[in-house]
Amino acid sequence: MSRAGIAFVAGALGLLASGAFTLPAQAQATDGAKLFAQHCAACHQVAADAPQGMGPNLRGVVGRQAGQVKGFAYSAEFKKALAKKSWTAELLDKWLEEPQNVAPGTYMMYKQADPAIRSAIIEYLSTAK
Ligand code: HEC
Repeated sequence: MSRAGIAFVAGALGLLASGAFTLPAQAQATDGAKLFAQHCAACHQVAADAPQGMGPNLRGVVGRQAGQVKGFAYSAEFKKALAKKSWTAELLDKWLEEPQNVAPGTYMMYKQADPAIRSAIIEYLSTAK
């Protein structure tokens, strides 16, 4: 390789290391566990037998009926809107986009406009059985 070639490669590596090339949102959003930790863990646990937080434990939530975590006091609004509903990936996506649209008056104070972040987190939750 020529001197100029080496200098070019070194320069490009320097740019990479400095973060000048940022990953597209899609690639960043694939780490669902990390996103869960950042976006949800302040209120929700997933570990089996973890104590309830501000929100109910989410282990196994994908596919289960809403509002079934024992010992968690769901709001009346949540119970009314989600009675007999199960958490499919589609319903979870709507929920995370705007919980107030799914259960007006719910206590969950969080919403996520980015579909890539929502789907990465839902994917992660579907593995937490
Ligand atoms: C600020 C606290 C807070 C954050 C942050 C939060 N939630 Fe919640 N979540 C709640 C509360 C409170 C409830 C119960 C709502 C009610 O009773 O009205 C809830 C309920 C839920 C439920 C219903 C569970 C069941 O047992 O039926 C799901 C699913 C859920 N949250 C997912 C998430 C996910 C995924 C995130 C992160 C992207 C998240 N939440 C972020 C507070 C939070």
